[in-house]
Amino acid sequence: MADGGYDVSDYCDIDARFGTLADADALIADAHGLGLRVVIDLVANHTSSEHPWFTAALAAAPGSPERDRYFFRDGRSGGEEPPNDWISAFGGSAWTRVSEPDGRPGQWYLHLFAPEQPDLDWDQSAVREAFDAVLRFWLDRGVDGLRVDAAPAMAKQPGLPDAGHVPGARFESRTWVGNPHWDVDGVHDILRRWRAIGDGYDGDRLFVTEAVVRDPERLSRYVRPDEMHTSFNFDYLTAPWEPRRLRTVIDESIAALDRVGAPPTWVLSSHDETRHVTRFGRADSSAATMGFDTGRPPADLDLGLRRARAAALLTLALPGSAYLYQGEELGLPEVEDLPDEALQDPTWERSGHTARGRDGCRVPLPWSGDTTPFGFTTEGIAPWLPQPTSWAALTVAAQGADPASTLSLYRAALRLRRSVPALHAEPLSWVSSDDDVLAFDRGPAFRCVVNLSDRSIDLGGQDRVLLASGPCSGSLPPDTAAWLSSPGEE
Ligand code: GLC
Repeated sequence: MADGGYDVSDYCDIDARFGTLADADALIADAHGLGLRVVIDLVANHTSSEHPWFTAALAAAPGSPERDRYFFRDGRSGGEEPPNDWISAFGGSAWTRVSEPDGRPGQWYLHLFAPEQPDLDWDQSAVREAFDAVLRFWLDRGVDGLRVDAAPAMAKQPGLPDAGHVPGARFESRTWVGNPHWDVDGVHDILRRWRAIGDGYDGDRLFVTEAVVRDPERLSRYVRPDEMHTSFNFDYLTAPWEPRRLRTVIDESIAALDRVGAPPTWVLSSHDETRHVTRFGRADSSAATMGFDTGRPPADLDLGLRRARAAALLTLALPGSAYLYQGEELGLPEVEDLPDEALQDPTWERSGHTARGRDGCRVPLPWSGDTTPFGFTTEGIAPWLPQPTSWAALTVAAQGADPASTLSLYRAALRLRRSVPALHAEPLSWVSSDDDVLAFDRGPAFRCVVNLSDRSIDLGGQDRVLLASGPCSGSLPPDTAAWLSSPGEE
């Protein structure tokens, strides 16, 4: 748990804190019984430093096959300096020096994330073959798909050349992309290999990749017909609440993915990013990744929630698939005031306590009741991150009973998304509107209007409103979205 579980020491077992393999089997069976599918996270760029391969590599000599599974290199300047200038996503150098079995300071190993997450060398056939078996292990158990973690990291440029980072450079995913350790073409060989394994199984098996890359065109390479089925869309996730930028991202995403025959996807939040209620309530509403946005002015959370609700209707009206991050359906804000001693994200330590990291978007959900742990754990047992007492008003139980709640909005939107045929089949076509309004049709019978301006706009009749993200009576207030039936007159 050095990085919230993204440090795996046994790919074919369940951490005892979470249960057993029998529990996993029961969960998969129960989910299937409810018509839900289960996608597991495959973290294959790196293992845990507690994985038996890494322990064996530490005990073995430089140049040994055990070390070859990872990136062990001699340091520069007589061994004193890291082998190159690469930086870790959590801050600091991407290299850590080991003590050799005889106790002397020795080689360095690569970790693009935390030191407890040594990178595997995917050019090694031993690594490739071992992971084929891991995929089969889970697909055989009945999982419906895999979410491929940090896919662009899995191939490195031969020779591991410097990236050109200045000393002390900080991770910024947007400046990371296109480096010799990110989005290198060799990664696609690995993805094709996995897709071929998945295609050998009955039923629908979904492969989705996490790929933060330079632009939609680079992203489209991950979802070519023989690679992943789909991918998170970080250009959409990081777009500010700004009409022109959103429209450009939407158009570019649809066009780039269409060229390779993949569905577009939309995502507003994840376990790595500031929750979008908070992000959209900031003067600068663009996203900083991996919790590196400390020091931003406080958010206007009423404004953020209004925008987040409108963004939900925008997102769920777009063609393709949408990813919802647990808690966004409750309108949860980022918890920005977690006590220092509660923080668990490695970013906090690795940044020298300058970036608080991602814990604020990971606080356990409030289910019910007036006091913590709000039904998340048994009364009297503290959840792994403290929940704000103010979340009493945001519990699933409280919101489920309130038709105006964010949970009710999401439920209504998801119900319509299933039942309105236009939302399955029809392409998006923009409707001419003011620059600060996003309006599009999905065929002749459905329209989505999002008002990003600072004035109300006329909707031409309340009777056409299927659903709105806020109070709306024939005119749409600022930062509000509506779904309309039969667009009618232009
Ligand atoms: C991905 C995960 C993130 C994790 C990292 C390292 O970006 O989403 O949570 O820290 O990979 O595995």
